[in-house]
Amino acid sequence: MNKTVCKLKTVLLAVVWLTVTLAGCGGNSASKDIKIGLLNEMTGGNATFGTSAANGAKLAIKEANAKGGVLGKQIQAIVADNKSEPSESANAMTKLITQDKVVAVTGVFASSNAIAASNVAEANKVPFLAVAATNPKVTVDEKTGKVKDYTFRVCFIDPFQGTVGANFVLNNLKLKTAAILIDNSSDYSKGLSAFFKDAFIKGGGRVVAEEAYLQKDQDFKTILTKVKALNPEILYVPGYYEEVGKIVKQARDLGIMVPIVGGDGWDSPKLVEIAGAAALNNTYFTNHYSVEDNSPASKAFVEAYQKEYGQKPDAVAVLAYDAANLLIDAIKRANSAEPDKIRQALAATQNFPAVTGATTLNATHDAVKSAVIIEMKDGKQVFKAKVNP
Ligand code: PHE
Repeated sequence: MNKTVCKLKTVLLAVVWLTVTLAGCGGNSASKDIKIGLLNEMTGGNATFGTSAANGAKLAIKEANAKGGVLGKQIQAIVADNKSEPSESANAMTKLITQDKVVAVTGVFASSNAIAASNVAEANKVPFLAVAATNPKVTVDEKTGKVKDYTFRVCFIDPFQGTVGANFVLNNLKLKTAAILIDNSSDYSKGLSAFFKDAFIKGGGRVVAEEAYLQKDQDFKTILTKVKALNPEILYVPGYYEEVGKIVKQARDLGIMVPIVGGDGWDSPKLVEIAGAAALNNTYFTNHYSVEDNSPASKAFVEAYQKEYGQKPDAVAVLAYDAANLLIDAIKRANSAEPDKIRQALAATQNFPAVTGATTLNATHDAVKSAVIIEMKDGKQVFKAKVNP
């Protein structure tokens, strides 16, 4: 390539860049909208989380806009896909902040993805309200032990969820030996396994095996055969629905008929598709909310959601709806769409009336909320118990 062509290319690139930048500026000043990023697992291994979450959040935003928006402006939702991957979560967060110029971001389910996204939000000083990523490292920096300034979440955390699961096994199922299957590619699974194990041993239980697997694994027969030989009274499998579905199915195929217990990562309509309804009998998981919740707020939400999307919401959709509403409320209380003012308002959240329960954000920017235990019965989620913090 000769020099002139090279120069010409540079000039052309500069022109394109200028055009794009100016168009962006013009768009911003002309638009009266407040932009909120919805960063979610829209594709990849956790895609049902993102799809439900985007629906829930969009419904909240639509309702708010119908009531006049916030600070006299309409709210514009910008959806970004993290492809269920940590690196893509960081990329998508960067795009939302630097290109789309959102004032805050909500979404993200898997803790590893939320941690990656949160690092970018912190560096750019833009508030990030995680919906249901439950590992402690989402809001507290692992290296410094400090609470992250701009990161919050509207859900409980895994030391609580693991304890609820352990106590359920010990006190309700009245079983004392467990094998744990850990998804080693996930901060969520590694953390929840450890918190469960701690509480289980403290309560008098015994862990007879800990076996690791990775996301996207297909065949779990080798670890399941090992586990079967040790005769545990339950399996604890705190993973995500794609792998959990296969594990449950393959366990039953191998004749492991004991209860299988897990956490919120099970919550997907795809779980039944993958495992089959029969294999899922005698399984339980801890979660944030049951759609059988009969509170007036819950009924109103379920009705509005069904009207909008023609299907019942899952717990994931409800949580995302709550998070979007809480974020809108924080903007209102901040009386400003400045990221730093929104951050301050988020930190001051007290008793926000969410569908999943009154939400107060504590000193570590987490919500303290009750958990529910769901039993899978003939392919349906059945509400079993509620455990208060
Ligand atoms: N708590 C899970 C995590 O931290 C994500 C999740 C929440 C999945 C709620 C489903 C429902 O990775």
